[in-house]
Amino acid sequence: MLLVAVPLMNFHPLVWGIVADKLISGSLTSSSLAFWLAVMLFTYLVGVVVKAIHTYLLEKAGQAFVRDIRVDLFAKFEHQSLAYHHETHSGELVTRIISDVDAMEQSVLQGLTSLLGELVTFVVVAGMVLWISPLVGSVSILPLAVSFIFIRMYNRRVKSIYSGVRSRLGKIGSFVQDRLTGVQETQAYGQQGAEERAFAKKANAFYEASIKASKLRQIYFPIVSVFGFINNIIMLGVGAWLIMNQSTAFTIGGLLAYRGFWWRLQSPIRTIAQTSDILQRARASAARVFELMQAPVAIIDTPNAQLLPKPVRGSVKLENLSFHYVPQKPILTDVNLTIHSGEFVAIAGSSGSGKTTLLNLIPRYFDVTGGQLLVDNIDVRNVQLGSLRETIGLVRQESYLFDGTVRENLLYAKPDASETELLAAAQGANASGFIDGLPKGYNTHVGQNGVKLSGGQRQRLSLARALLSKPTLLLLDEPTASVEPESESLIRDSILTRTRAGEGTTILVTHRIDLLSQSPRILFFDEGQLADDGSHDRLVTRCSAYKDAYQQWEREETVH
Ligand SMILES: Nc1ncnc2c1ncn2[C@@H]1O[C@H](COP(=O)(O)OP(=O)(O)OP(=O)(O)O)[C@@H](O)[C@H]1O
Ligand SMILES: [Mg+2]
Repeated sequence: MLLVAVPLMNFHPLVWGIVADKLISGSLTSSSLAFWLAVMLFTYLVGVVVKAIHTYLLEKAGQAFVRDIRVDLFAKFEHQSLAYHHETHSGELVTRIISDVDAMEQSVLQGLTSLLGELVTFVVVAGMVLWISPLVGSVSILPLAVSFIFIRMYNRRVKSIYSGVRSRLGKIGSFVQDRLTGVQETQAYGQQGAEERAFAKKANAFYEASIKASKLRQIYFPIVSVFGFINNIIMLGVGAWLIMNQSTAFTIGGLLAYRGFWWRLQSPIRTIAQTSDILQRARASAARVFELMQAPVAIIDTPNAQLLPKPVRGSVKLENLSFHYVPQKPILTDVNLTIHSGEFVAIAGSSGSGKTTLLNLIPRYFDVTGGQLLVDNIDVRNVQLGSLRETIGLVRQESYLFDGTVRENLLYAKPDASETELLAAAQGANASGFIDGLPKGYNTHVGQNGVKLSGGQRQRLSLARALLSKPTLLLLDEPTASVEPESESLIRDSILTRTRAGEGTTILVTHRIDLLSQSPRILFFDEGQLADDGSHDRLVTRCSAYKDAYQQWEREETVH
């Protein structure tokens, strides 16, 4: 399309030349003038329309490309392992999916569309210039070649600067995200001033990197433009000299046409310089986007992964299980235990003893580093992730609630749940009472991470969400740690009701004495190892570490 549009849009200087030469030779008539004017208008009009269609189609393709990259990138984030998300700052990921993809978009839309157009323009116009006069054409195009050399030099130097600019923007993104999440702490400790200074420092690092690129641009771009202008001087000089010396190789009409063509040669050079700059920026962004795109996902289905055979029974077995986040620091060492289907088991242990870690190994948020973990006697690494996780309900120490209504948060576990199921889950978690008391009941907005609810309400809502999917295996990590006694007893009641009704296995991490004393079985962890396994009464008498810990927890609770 460009090959049609560009010659048509750049035909007019030729008409100027033809008309001027006819004027000089006296052969111009009013009808031939009218003819040439009509040709001039028609060629330009058709050229403009074809170019507009071409640009629209190209932009459409560019936008689709950018949309697909964003969608793919988001999908990649959603599937990345927890270990990856712990290592990578979410602010950095947000910057990449928004700002870096945006920079790519600009390059595709503005850069590539105009670059293609200008390159074709340059070739076509250079062809016309050479056709009018091979001699004047070739000497005048020469300086333009020098411009290209400078553009290349600029590109080489600016490459690393742009990578720096993008990475600094990423740092700004992660800083803002982190500090906004902790804004209450900043205000509580009166650190606003320090945070502002720290942010200003990051903003300044970005400013300095950007200024460096700008400086480089203002060194190279004027040089490029001067060489483009020299071509203008050569055209006039050589052309006029030839005519002065009565050479037949050139005419005044030719000179006039050149006058029109000069700008059409100069402007592609400028655009190519600017576009190559945009492309360099985009390249830095694209490198960051593709780095994320290509990052391997650590936790995926193995090729022969199977579905958990139905009905899922919900037994868990740990065989010589070991785990570490970093090789130097073992978290769990050689753990052996079996939790039977339908059992209610409590896990206790000092802070940092690996209880949360152990729960996270069951739905395979992390893979064991030694031994194996079996659900219904199948190594979880051989089970399809979807099949494994749909049988598990997990209420984390700090479960996340999405910015939406109570109902939307509950339905997250089972989007097609009926109203009866929804109410039953809320009742099961002893949450229906407080939900009914909310201004709009189930349609009340809870705010980001449920900020508009109390700690106890958040926990019970999380529990209700987990119960809605009717998990065969319910994992609860300190669900009552930060709630008042009333919420605690409500949560305890719902766990006991579930167990009595034979609704599945429940594994509860807790250090609440009330819950521990009512648990039929306690797994007590000490320094990454299973120190003892039995009922509360037996553990108190035979495991001194448990007894000490229990007395400590008892003291803590009476103090509060
Ligand atoms: N993502 C991680 N990367 C590296 N180390 C980690 C990570 N998560 C936890 N740890 C370390 O693993 C150890 C066990 O942590 P874990 O959260 O499992 O303890 P916990 O028993 O649940 O403690 P608490 O009772 O305080 O919740 C801790 O020493 C902790 O520092
Ligand atoms: Mg924990």
